Amino acid sequence: MALQIVPMTKQDIPEAVECVQTAFADDPYFHWLFDSSERNAASLAAHFQYGLNCNTPMYVAKVPISDKHPRSIVGVSWWFSPQPASKGVSWSVWAQDWLLSFRQFLFNVRFGGRGGLNLHRYKMWKEMQRKTHDVVWTDPRGYYFCNVLAVSSEMRGMGLGRKLVEVVTQQADRDGMPCYLESSKGVPNIIIYEKLGFNLVTEIDCVDGNDACKLYCMVRKPKTKA
Ligand SMILES: CC(C)(COP(=O)(O)OP(=O)(O)OC[C@H]1O[C@@H](n2cnc3c(N)ncnc32)[C@H](O)[C@@H]1OP(=O)(O)O)[C@@H](O)C(=O)NCCC(=O)NCCS
Repeated sequence: MALQIVPMTKQDIPEAVECVQTAFADDPYFHWLFDSSERNAASLAAHFQYGLNCNTPMYVAKVPISDKHPRSIVGVSWWFSPQPASKGVSWSVWAQDWLLSFRQFLFNVRFGGRGGLNLHRYKMWKEMQRKTHDVVWTDPRGYYFCNVLAVSSEMRGMGLGRKLVEVVTQQADRDGMPCYLESSKGVPNIIIYEKLGFNLVTEIDCVDGNDACKLYCMVRKPKTKA
């Protein structure tokens, strides 16, 4: 099987959205954050477009289309590049942030809502995440932040996740930079990420009434120093 890990393009977005939505269908965090289990595909596509416009590291794993693989994209990884704590957001990123917010507003009108997003929990999570980063992100140069990582279920355990992570962690090692991620599944993801060089540093407890989920925050130190 000729598997390729290549940078994501605009044309890849629809399949990448489907890959991520399917991979996260049973994800505890998404069930906590979204009232409806169906995540708004248009919103996810807009986020991917935002990532591309901001030049963030985004990769897809592709296989040739066959009876077994009706779609070419079987894995996705989306990262944010390190952002020094002291440095403000650039004008181009600011413009993309604004554009994304505007698109989200249009989607809310078009779909008559937020695609099931529980806004109260979203704000709660954002605040907890900010406080956690204040404590855990001790390197002033910033971190490669793994925002999305997904492998189609039929392709798991075959080394694809490793490839989608290493395409960035190898760059991080060359730069002497640390990496960071938040995983909503303890089992089996903590062990998987430990094998990829990450260590658990703290947990974020997302609790709202009787509904709760945990985010496992993991840091990977660079293998070589800058
Ligand atoms: C997490 C995920 C991306 C891993 O992708 P994957 O392709 O299955 O991972 P790999 O096959 O590359 O495995 C990476 C390492 O973890 C190990 N591993 C994989 N699955 C494992 C499991 N269930 N238990 C223990 N170890 C496991 C592999 O042996 C490999 O280690 P090695 O290279 O030293 O042998 C994939 O399981 C997934 O998409 N899960 C659903 C969505 C999700 O949870 N995303 C992450 C959100 S933070």
